[in-house]
Order: sequence, then C-alpha cells, then structure tokens
Amino acid sequence: MAKWITIEQMSHHVGEEVELRGWVYLRTDKGRLQFIRLRDGTGFAQVVVFKKNLDPEAFNAARHVTQESSVIVRGIVRQDERAPGIPGGYELDARDFQIVQLAEEYPIQPKEHGVDFLLDHRHLWLRTPRQWAIMRVRAEVIRAISDWLDDHGFLRVDTPILTPSAAEGTTTLFETNYHDRPAYLAQTGQLYNEANIFAFGKVYCFGPTFRAEKSKTRRHLQEFWMVEPEIAWCTLEDLLEIEEQFVSYIVQRVLERRANELRVLERDTSSLEKVEPPFPRISYDEAVEMINRAAAQGVRVPPKDEPLPPIEWGDDFGAPHETYIAAQFEKPVFVHHFPTEAKAFYMEPEPDRPEVCRSADLLAPEGYGEIIGGSERISDPEKLVEALKRHNLPLEPYKWYIDLRRYGSVPHSGFGLGVERTVAWICGLHHVRETIAFPRVLGRLYP
Ligand code: 4AD
Ligand code: MG
Repeated sequence: MAKWITIEQMSHHVGEEVELRGWVYLRTDKGRLQFIRLRDGTGFAQVVVFKKNLDPEAFNAARHVTQESSVIVRGIVRQDERAPGIPGGYELDARDFQIVQLAEEYPIQPKEHGVDFLLDHRHLWLRTPRQWAIMRVRAEVIRAISDWLDDHGFLRVDTPILTPSAAEGTTTLFETNYHDRPAYLAQTGQLYNEANIFAFGKVYCFGPTFRAEKSKTRRHLQEFWMVEPEIAWCTLEDLLEIEEQFVSYIVQRVLERRANELRVLERDTSSLEKVEPPFPRISYDEAVEMINRAAAQGVRVPPKDEPLPPIEWGDDFGAPHETYIAAQFEKPVFVHHFPTEAKAFYMEPEPDRPEVCRSADLLAPEGYGEIIGGSERISDPEKLVEALKRHNLPLEPYKWYIDLRRYGSVPHSGFGLGVERTVAWICGLHHVRETIAFPRVLGRLYP
C-alpha cells in the first residue's frame, strides 16, 4: 500500500510511490497525457497521467474528471524544477487515479468574477490559491501574536462577548436580547482586561469583536478579531515600546515562514522588511499641521487620488488623513496625544494639558490606516466618574469598573490590534473582506 502524504511533504518522498488525496482545480487534455492540477489544502501540485502507466479505467477517470472533483491518486514523486505548483518543484507521475466524487459544473471559473458574486460564493471562493495564501498568512499572524505575548509574560484571559454596556461609543453597539434585558455584543474586551491586570499583571484577550459600523469602507467589518494586551504599571511611553516590538515580530515572522504565500499574492515585501523598532512618533498637533500644510498645497491621496481635505484641530482623522500621514514615513508611525474629546472615555488626559489624552494610534504604511489603538487609562476614580458623565454614560453598569480604581489603582495602559487590517497590510490587499474566511460586511450575512 502506498503511503498517503500531503503535497507539502512531497519533497521528502522523491522516487517513492505515494498517494495524494485532494481536489482537481485544472486539467489539461493532451490526449494520451493528462495534466491534472491537484490541491489538498497544504499546497498545489501537478499530477502527470500518462495512459501507458495506468489501467484503462483509471486513465479514463483522469480524462473525464471535472474541476473540483475529489480524487485519490497514486504515483511516483518526481523532482523537477519546472513543475508548477505551490511550493512547486515536485510532481506526481500517476499509476492509479480514482474519483471519490465527480463534481457538478463549478460556478467559479478561471476568469474575472465580480466581488458580489464571489462573496455570495465565499464557501467556494476560499478554495482558490489567493484565498488559500491569505488564510495561511492570517493563521501565521495569529500564531505570532500568541507566541510573542506568551513569551513576554502575558497571560491570556478571555473576556465576555455578551456585555451590559458600551466601551467604544454607543453608536456602533449591536444590541441583543439577554433574557428580556438588553445586552450588547462586545466592542472590546478591554474593560475586563483592566480588571484582570490587578490579578495577573500583564494579560491579553483575543477574540471576535463587534461594531455596527454604518458605512461601507475597505477597512471596516461588522465582526473582526482583535488582540488586546493590557499592562499594570505601564505608561504611554512604555506601551509604545511594547507595540513596536510586537508588530515588528509579527511582520518578520510572516516574512520568514510564509514566503510562498506572499509570492502567490505577488506582495512586494521590501517595505515589510523595514519594519523593525523604533517606529517614528509624531503628536496629533504635528499631524494636523502636516495635513493642513499639504491640503493647502493641493496634495492628492490614493487610492482614488482625491484631494486631501484639511482638518480642524479636535476632529478625528479620516482615511485620507491617515493615508497621507503614513506616506510620510517608511515604517508604521505612532500618532500620540489625540484630543480628549475625540477619543474613548477611559483615556487618561495629559495632566498639564487635559484637552489631549495619553493615547496613540499606530498607522500602517501604504495606506492601510490605523492598525492599533491604545492609551494609558484613567487611574483615579473621581476623574473616571467625571469622564463617564462627560460622555453621557450611565454610572450603574460601570460600577465594577470604577471599583478597580478604589482598590490598589496603578498607572496602566493597553492597546488593541485589529487582525484583519494587519493581515490586509501584510498581504497587500485592497479590502479587509478577504482577510477573514466569512466576512461580515455591511448588508451581508450570507453565507
Ligand atoms: O481603536 P479601537 O476602537 O480600540 C479599542 O477597541 C480599544 N479598546 C483597544 C484597547 O486599547 N484595548 O480598535 C482597535 C483596533 C483598530 O486599530 C483596528 O485595527 C481594529 O481594532 N478595528 C477594526 N477592524 C476592522 N473593522 C472594524 N470595524 C474595526 N474597528 C476597529
Ligand atoms: Mg481607534
């Protein structure tokens, strides 16, 4: 019996007779010679089916197999530099060819399809090499995140999805029914992380988060994954050093372990190679000046080549502002000290200048926008109550959160990194919808 191996393992079995199990994604008919492209989840490889090497019945199966049929192929692994595939360089010289299920006519053809059609067929679209590469980069990003945090003294403590109150503004809440009481899908795990640091020092939560974003953009999903580290005894300055180490590690790890996938995506990796600490830091004030100077000169910004709009001090950045600022630097850039009024209630105002807060966003290069939001948190209970009132939030649901400042409060900080935007940046994708297996974009809940 030939051993069942994966395409990824072919290089270890040159000259051996083995079995591959997978799906046909392309067939080229040369009469007595059939070239079958097979994928099995670990990679993509060519199977050469030469009539004289198989039983007539097996050859006939190979000759009539349809796209996406599931098959079991037995044959001899050959090394050949020109053999197509991912990783490529090895092909299977078939001795037997068995169809497990002959696929019906497949809706996705090797031609251009519209995005809506592809999203309607997301359950099938995932099978293409490009989507395969993206999902494997995503998985590597997630592994790199966990490895770095686990190796640097952070304890993973998971936080609830069903929550009684808002943390990132009331306009993007998804409301649900919790046994006749309103509940909200978590926008963030941060508030619970803040409780957890008093028990464990350095923690992180990592899971899906939900925002009822009312506009369609290429950076927003309704459901996205966020990793949120939170650290006791940590100032904003300490936090930025952690963030730049963390992000650099993630990028370098993908470059090292997912080079094949980035090649499939035709990603120019030269800008990613530069991602190492330290990252540049500019204040919100400086950013506003830069933007307004450029806007006055009529600077235009990609992807639509629209004029950069000026910004008023106090406003949050729009996508064109982030794109412009990031384009002025080779590496990701921190923008710190945003206006207190423009940011979430929990951010610590700067003591000498309370109109700005001890916050920082990290903007990715090449127009990918904000990938991290973070800040120092208010550590004084009275100041926190004031901030909640200023944001018109009820005190009752936050009682436990205020409590944290009454029993051994310490300066502390944390941040949230969005997985989908990070993957879009590393893969060089136009839109975040391709970075998650089943994206929840505005107006879509199928499949
Ligand atoms: O800046 P945000 O809203 O920060 C927080 O939620 C904090 N509680 C994090 C913390 O300090 N623990 O979101 C953080 C990141 C953004 O920088 C972005 O990468 C991502 O989450 N993000 C989204 N990604 C996709 N779709 C959306 N609708 C997103 N909203 C935020
Ligand atoms: Mg933010």
